Amino acid sequence: MEWSNLVESCGLNGETKLIFIGGGNMAGALIKGAINSNFITKDDIVVSVRSKESAAKWIEDGFSNTFTDNNEMLKKFPLGVVFICVKPQLFGSMVDQLEEGILHASPLVVSIMAGLSTETLSQKLIHTGYSHSMIRMMPSTPCLVGASATLLCYNSLPINNRLSLVTSLADCAGTCTILEEKQFHAASAVAACAPAYVFLLIEALADGGVLAGLPRKDALNLATQSFQGAAKLVAESRKHPGQLKDEVCSAGGSTIAGVRVLERAAVRSALIEAVKASTERSEEMSKMK
Ligand SMILES: NC(=O)c1ccc[n+]([C@@H]2O[C@H](COP(=O)([O-])OP(=O)(O)OC[C@H]3O[C@@H](n4cnc5c(N)ncnc54)[C@H](OP(=O)(O)O)[C@@H]3O)[C@@H](O)[C@H]2O)c1
Repeated sequence: MEWSNLVESCGLNGETKLIFIGGGNMAGALIKGAINSNFITKDDIVVSVRSKESAAKWIEDGFSNTFTDNNEMLKKFPLGVVFICVKPQLFGSMVDQLEEGILHASPLVVSIMAGLSTETLSQKLIHTGYSHSMIRMMPSTPCLVGASATLLCYNSLPINNRLSLVTSLADCAGTCTILEEKQFHAASAVAACAPAYVFLLIEALADGGVLAGLPRKDALNLATQSFQGAAKLVAESRKHPGQLKDEVCSAGGSTIAGVRVLERAAVRSALIEAVKASTERSEEMSKMK
């Protein structure tokens, strides 16, 4: 279902916009992913950024409703679904500059900021007059190609099926998983930080190919396809990855020789520790004021 039909099915005006406070990497990826899957058009989008340079880029890309003043934007579009997409450390100063009652008529506010709890968000937003559910959404940059493992949690279920406004955006960006908020730090590590781990692993696998004599381009294509193929096989075969690994390691063969080196280098342990470190850092960030 397209955005305009979906908002009407939630009892809202079909002209309801998606308003992005912050138009950086993540907001850009979410918006482009949703446009590529024909869920929204550029006209559905309203975006604010800090600098004139960023605003000029958005306008050049065909997003005419671009602002550098959040109050001006929210006065012009008071009924939109608001996505807060600034860096978590800038949230406090951004929200303090919002005028009293400015979000009074907004049907839904969603934060994509890492670490900030729904409780912190609700408290900081009190003066804006927003009084509905607080939703947290954690996408990742693969949403640009419709392959983000996006996470959602909320402090109370939004009225009138309004959660579907966010789940539908997440669905067209890939998959959408709704969790309890207490699981959000760990899930963010595995879903939102992990693409960075995997980029690093693909690059390293390609480096290995170059070392073994392959041209860089071929090595990178093959490494990318290996990750894509292995992930697809795990997802579609529903076999345990350990079983799939056993099935490709023939006795005395070349694959088990490589697996031996990975085990000696403690690759499993490194990934486990990476998830733990990202989870702990997310917890730490949530305590910063
Ligand atoms: N990157 C990821 O993979 C990822 C994944 C999940 C969640 N997130 C979350 O997404 C949020 C944004 O991350 P990002 O990587 O997109 O950051 P980013 O590229 O630095 O973008 C931040 C954007 O916020 C704008 N901005 C700053 N202050 C503002 C204000 N007061 N009013 C309006 N706009 C303002 C900036 O404007 P200028 O362009 O003019 O500076 C910029 O467009 C963060 O909270 C992060 O935790 C990121």
